[in-house]
Amino acid sequence: MSKSLLGRRVLLTGASRGIGLEVARLFLGEGAQVIGVAKSAERLDAAARTLAHPESFFPLVADLTQPSVIDSIRVRVTEIWGALDLLIHNAAIMASHDEEILSEDPGSLEASLEVNLLAPFRLTRALLPLLKKGSSPRIVNVSSGAGTFDGLNEPGIASYRLSKWALNGLTKLEAKELAGQVSILAFDPGWVKTDLGGPKAPGSPRDSAQSLLKTVLLPVEVTGQFFKDAELIQW
Ligand SMILES: NC(=O)c1ccc[n+]([C@@H]2O[C@H](COP(=O)([O-])OP(=O)(O)OC[C@H]3O[C@@H](n4cnc5c(N)ncnc54)[C@H](OP(=O)(O)O)[C@@H]3O)[C@@H](O)[C@H]2O)c1
Repeated sequence: MSKSLLGRRVLLTGASRGIGLEVARLFLGEGAQVIGVAKSAERLDAAARTLAHPESFFPLVADLTQPSVIDSIRVRVTEIWGALDLLIHNAAIMASHDEEILSEDPGSLEASLEVNLLAPFRLTRALLPLLKKGSSPRIVNVSSGAGTFDGLNEPGIASYRLSKWALNGLTKLEAKELAGQVSILAFDPGWVKTDLGGPKAPGSPRDSAQSLLKTVLLPVEVTGQFFKDAELIQW
């Protein structure tokens, strides 16, 4: 059977564990080349050792909250490929759990926005010239049902909800600006067992990776929309 991502050049953040690690595994198996970004060198190294096709996986340690690393990522992608086909903003944090927005520890919202919103914004801006040199370029902002309008009415994880709601807004704005040049989609991976999702989650990171694969294979004309399991969902 032919590989669905043969030769696709992918930059994936949050590749050291959880959904990102399973996306790296699946996409490498589908013939992609993957630059995998994470903050912890130790975890990224351990993750890389579990992957088949190591020749196609390029680990890149970077703390995405540091604006200075954004340019070093651009330089590295330029060195390796000189272009980029697929940018997946998957790294995220959940800085609070049960509290509502005004009761969270000070700094929770700021920390959430840094990783979950500003890092994707800065990285997209830095990598745009490389995406424009890519083939059928696409960006996927990994969002969450927690960040939908309905999700804002649900209890807890307040900063996380707000950061993903804002990421959805960023998806819309960027899709409008880049219409006809780069497709930008928001993606909900569902509730799955990871450090972030917790042990009670019903799904597995492998399920999310399969669902993301279906989403990145949508026709490139599809942009500015929110998907779960390759089905359109409401913002
Ligand atoms: N799990 C769920 O149920 C669920 C549901 C809806 C949406 N999502 C979304 O799916 C995505 C993946 O979630 P997950 O559950 O797989 O999370 P996870 O297991 O907690 O993994 C988070 C990943 O993000 C990386 N990361 C965090 N902060 C970073 C930083 N400052 N710089 C670079 N990398 C950083 C981590 O790297 P280190 O290992 O180096 O820390 C790790 O690879 C997230 O966008 C999340 O919001 C998850």
